[in-house]
Parts: sequence; C-alpha cells; structure tokens
Amino acid sequence: VPAATPPQPVTVTVTGAGGQIGYSLLFRIASGQLLGRDVPVRLRLLEIPAGRRAAEGTALELQDGAFPLLHGIDVTEDATAAFDGVDIALLVGARPRGPGMERADLLEANGAIFGPQGAAINAGAADDVRVLVVGNPANTNALIASAAAPDVPPERFTAMTRLDHNRAVAQLAAHLHVPVRSVDGVIVWGNHSASQYPDLSHATVDGRPATELVDERWLADEYIPRVAKRGAEIIEVRGSSSAASAASAAIDHVHDWVNGTGDRWTSAGVVSDGSYGVPEGLISSFPVRSAPSGAGDGAWQIVQGLTIDAFSRERIDRSVAELVEEREAVRALGLIPA
Ligand code: NAD
Ligand code: LMR
Repeated sequence: VPAATPPQPVTVTVTGAGGQIGYSLLFRIASGQLLGRDVPVRLRLLEIPAGRRAAEGTALELQDGAFPLLHGIDVTEDATAAFDGVDIALLVGARPRGPGMERADLLEANGAIFGPQGAAINAGAADDVRVLVVGNPANTNALIASAAAPDVPPERFTAMTRLDHNRAVAQLAAHLHVPVRSVDGVIVWGNHSASQYPDLSHATVDGRPATELVDERWLADEYIPRVAKRGAEIIEVRGSSSAASAASAAIDHVHDWVNGTGDRWTSAGVVSDGSYGVPEGLISSFPVRSAPSGAGDGAWQIVQGLTIDAFSRERIDRSVAELVEEREAVRALGLIPA
C-alpha cells in the first residue's frame, strides 16, 4: 500500500516575535496546539531591528525544542518576505504608547505598521489567509490592515477579544465556585478596551441561566468592570502586560476558527455586517461560531437572533461608539479610505 502523502506544512507568520507574547506563543504553535497535533508548521518571525536579536534567540530555542511538527523558522525584517504565501498571520507587534504620546500619535504610529503589513498580506498571502490582530489598539489596527488589503475579503481580518472572553468565563466560574467548563454562552461585545461589554444575559452555568445565579449589583459594579479592566490589573500586579494568557487566547482564537467551535459560541473581533446595530465595516467583538475547515467558507459567523435588553443595549452602544471614534480618527489621518 502506498504511504499516505504527508500534509504540507502550514505557514504561520508572527510579528513582534521577539516580544513577550511571541515568547509564549511560538512554542505552543510549534508543539501543534494552534492547528492540531498532526499539522506541520513553518514559522516566519517578523521583527524590527530592535527586536531582531530577541527573535533570533527565540528561534534558537525553538530549534532546541526539537518539535517534530516544526518544519523551519525564518527571521526577517521584511514584511513582503514574511507574508509571502502565509496561511495564518498573527499580528502581535505594535507600537506601545510612549511618554507624552497622544491617542492620535498612537493611531498614526500603528497605522505605519499595520498599513504596510496589510499591503504585504494583500500582495503575497494564500487565498484563504486568516489574520488575527493582537497588537493594540487591536480592533482599529485590524481595520487599518484590512483597508490596505483590498483583495482579501474583510472577513479574513479579525481582532483578538478572546482574552476578554476567557476572562469573562473564568471570573464567572470563580465567583460561582464551578469549573470553567460549566459556563457557556458568555459574550464580549465591542472594543478590546475598558469600554468592552462582557454580557451574561445569555450565559448558562450547568444549563441554568447565569442571571438567576448572580445578583444585579455584583454584575454591574464588580463583574463587568473587573473583566473590562483586567488588562490594567495584570499590568499593575505583574509589572508588564499580559503575555502567556494573551498567547493562550490567540491559540484558542485560531484553533477554533480553523477547527470549528462545535456547539458553543465564543467571542471575536470581526467585521460587522450591521448585526445588532453595529455599523457595517467596524471590527467589533460579537458572539461567533466557526465551522471546521473545509465545511464552511472559512469566515466566523456572527450568532444571530439573540435578544438584547436595555441594559445590554446601552453598554454595547457605548463600546461601539468608541470604535466609531477610532475609525473616524484613522480616517482623518488618511490611514483608511474616506
Ligand atoms: P512586547 O513589547 O514585549 O513585544 C512587541 C514586539 O513587537 C517587540 O519585540 C517589537 O520589537 C515588535 N515590533 C514593533 N513594531 C513591529 C513591527 N512593525 N513589525 C514587527 N515587529 C514589531 O509586547 P507584547 O507584550 O508582546 O504585546 C504585543 C502587543 O499585544 C501590544 O500591543 C499589547 O498591547 C497587545 N496585547 C493585546 C492583547 C489583546 O487581548 N488583544 C492582550 C495583551 C497584549
Ligand atoms: C490586555 O488586555 O491584557 C492588554 O490588551 C493590555 C495592554 O494594554 O496591553
């Protein structure tokens, strides 16, 4: 019997590979946790000169891991080379806010990163490329990259709110002293920022509505701000921003996108089609499902038909208003078309 053809390696490009998220993320990709334990991967690490040596050091350690699925690692400072033939692009590297930097400066600096990277994806990526933007401000950076890639369907550009989703699940489970797997149906809406809305109105805990198990005061005064400001809490306690949990969420996002979400939904920043009153074209967090690779069109599907009460409406609208403002700001800077 002829041997089965081994699967071709999937090309995964990670930007900001020399940074702290990269250091956690790359080993999990190499070990098969991103795509599956039988899927070989080829890694491309994109950095800027300041981060290049760190990325090279990480590449040496990846080699030392002797990962059977890892079919090669390239380190480059050239976005065109990094995204040539890319199947999965994880855009982690971004410009952090520096002293005295205004919001517009931050958006402009990130425009200079995500615009050219979007253009390089447009020029060289595989037809069914999947892009996850992790670098902040993630939703708007994803919008900028997508706008620079007119030949790639906007559904292929996503922003990471899975960390917020995971935080929302874990905080509810901890409060009720139940295992995380008991919790289902949580949603994070809006922006990956403190304005996000972690919504329990459709959540269940071992099949019971979560709203019957928690009191409204706790929900409004403790739970929502705790989840929404968790990034700041991590920075304060740890002394630097979340890294391993962010990498873990990136693994979850891409794994579920490629392999399917099954019965459950999750949350992801995806381009709005106008669902739930979110203006079309914004990249906002929604409840989403994905079909396994080959079974659907490879896009996340926004879960339809959920009722939105007045409490939720107000909070979704507030976060979406912030996304509209960010979109207007990058439009004014010429980073996306008018
Ligand atoms: P880090 O500073 O440790 O690493 C970032 C790396 O990106 C650096 O090595 C830097 O040299 C590199 N870089 C900068 N510009 C680049 C470019 N143009 N091309 C390629 N590489 C570039 O930061 P980190 O802790 O790894 O975090 C990375 C980003 O992820 C930050 O923007 C952070 O705010 C964001 N983040 C997002 C989430 C989320 O949930 N969406 C969670 C945590 C962190
Ligand atoms: C997080 O949610 O942990 C990060 O986005 C925080 C940050 O500002 O990097």
